[in-house]
Amino acid sequence: MEIESLLKEKRIFYPSNKIIENSNIKKFMDKHGISSYDELLKKAKDLEWFWNEMAKEVGIEWFKEPEKILEWNPPHAKWFVGAKYNIVYDAVDKQFKLRKNKLAYIWEGEPGEVRKITYGELYKEVNKLANALKEFGISKGDRVTIWLPMIPELPIAMLACAKIGAIHSVVFSGFSEKALLERIKDAESRILITADGYYRGGNIVELKNRADMILKDAHSIEKVIVYRRCDNQIKMKEGRDYWWDEIVAEQPKRCKTEIMDSNDTLFILYTSGTTGKPKGVIHVHGGYAVGVASTLKFIFDIKEEDVWWCTADIGWITGHSYTVYAPLILGATSVMYEGAPLYPKPDRWWEIIEKYDVSILYTAPTAIRMFMRLGEEWVKKHDLSSLRLLGTVGEPINPEAWIWYYKYVGNERCPIMDTWWQTETGMQMISPLPITPLKPGSATKPFPGIEADVFDSNGNSLYGKDIGGNLIIKSPWPAMLKGLWRAEERYIKTYWSTFKDVYFTGDAARIDKEGYFWIQGRLDDVLNVAGHRIGNAEVESALISHPAVSEAAVVGKPHEVKGEVIVAFVVLKEGYTPSEQLKEELREHIAKEIGKIARPDEIYFVDDLPKTRSGKIMRRVCRAIVLNQPLGDISTLANPEAVEIVKRAIE
Ligand code: WTA
Repeated sequence: MEIESLLKEKRIFYPSNKIIENSNIKKFMDKHGISSYDELLKKAKDLEWFWNEMAKEVGIEWFKEPEKILEWNPPHAKWFVGAKYNIVYDAVDKQFKLRKNKLAYIWEGEPGEVRKITYGELYKEVNKLANALKEFGISKGDRVTIWLPMIPELPIAMLACAKIGAIHSVVFSGFSEKALLERIKDAESRILITADGYYRGGNIVELKNRADMILKDAHSIEKVIVYRRCDNQIKMKEGRDYWWDEIVAEQPKRCKTEIMDSNDTLFILYTSGTTGKPKGVIHVHGGYAVGVASTLKFIFDIKEEDVWWCTADIGWITGHSYTVYAPLILGATSVMYEGAPLYPKPDRWWEIIEKYDVSILYTAPTAIRMFMRLGEEWVKKHDLSSLRLLGTVGEPINPEAWIWYYKYVGNERCPIMDTWWQTETGMQMISPLPITPLKPGSATKPFPGIEADVFDSNGNSLYGKDIGGNLIIKSPWPAMLKGLWRAEERYIKTYWSTFKDVYFTGDAARIDKEGYFWIQGRLDDVLNVAGHRIGNAEVESALISHPAVSEAAVVGKPHEVKGEVIVAFVVLKEGYTPSEQLKEELREHIAKEIGKIARPDEIYFVDDLPKTRSGKIMRRVCRAIVLNQPLGDISTLANPEAVEIVKRAIE
């Protein structure tokens, strides 16, 4: 890689010939007589040809071949129609035959213990738990909620569900028990799989004891499976709660893999939207497998000998797709780490990379900015020469952080794959390939077979105009969400009603003259705090559920490390007086309702909030005030004096 020009906006980094020549994508192009990147993008416009080739490239083994590659009845797409399939066959069963002794996971607990799990062991563990689930009466289509930390049992639990055709719904272990309850209820899960606790920052974070607080209200739950991680004191309810090790002990090592339709549901994953209620994004076995595995193979260039580390928690889509399903389908070795990145010292990650010869690292801009602030000394203490490629995801990466990552982590040798995608897209959508010239801060171009564009509000393309607009996807892709769990109307309204038959991402972006995409952030009322999606409305409804609060408006404010932090304006009920103590109480209340990640950085008590004549709080006016921007159209504002009230509050 070399720097072409040091002028800021013009910097372009070219991948070295060595990287290009050895890349999986170059081999694919050679095989099909494709001579340039542009030609590749053009050729992939034949979607059915391209995605069928991708299925072959990642070695998908259908139980029954598809009759048709794509059936597109907007807004519903079916991929690999008529195929019989189960993703666990490719991720586990097949690997057991091909790579029995190869490591699937190298896991490190926060206190330092190491577990190395081969594909052979993974196969056995998945089968045993799958058999135990069957014994509990779980079968195809049943929902299982999984509330586990970053331990190997999390992928094992997901795979065990998928193996028998059950639908998993993983809830991030950092969410609160209230958030867990909401998701259990929505999915009507019959089983909860959790742990006694986990280690984070030197402490034990309790899970089971907290789950107990909501289980009496989770009427659909029949059994709770508890993995023993920390040996902290917990209570087990007779007839409902079972220790993981005890229920799998006597189970056979083999279990039949359920034959599914390629479009049967694999999992539900809840994500934030513009209302207070999270939406259950649905992904299926077949198309999802092809989408995640092919992007990992061609963007991150995974080869047999690589050691891959995606640092995201499996509770988010990044972990589902790129710590669980994609690497396993490719038979790769992944690193998994349980704890806090700075524990016990700020070089824990770099130590892990050195120790296990990690060759590809995939992380979030917020982490990079945090390390940048701590100084490069921590990175320099370690030999990171095993690294070959780097990646980021979750939010726009500022060029400064990009350069730091490139220089200090990649030693000016490793191209950075800035991948744009969403829970809904299931797979990486806009991203460089190892052959793509890079511009720091740009996710570059859509993956072959992905037709992305930027539209103005009338639906006209702004391609190549360098003007900001709505990021959209024009045609279906294999890992496209199947829908929202029991919320068809919301599915149509959120994604398919802004432009006809076009997927609306909710993000703003511009496309420069060379066709490079620059993602600018969310257009809707969704916050991106440290790369995590949180709906403004979710935090507001959590605030309003506190007895002292009558009204609340929550907005995002740019932050150097976290990308965005939460600022809340709160109107108190009669009889309550503002105090620092109450602020702290509200912050804790939000931690209980949603999780610590949703705690506001700033809370202001105000007497009134800007509202429309119909009484709707004008969140965008609050945001303009916080950002010190023009207020925009305020013709519907019923109480202009509230603007002054909010302004004074933050002074
Ligand atoms: C944002 C995470 C800029 C974007 C995989 C998107 C990004 C939301 C990038 C989805 C990126 C993700 N550059 N912004 N490379 N990647 N985003 O569902 O706003 O947790 O809509 O999926 O994160 O977040 P989600």
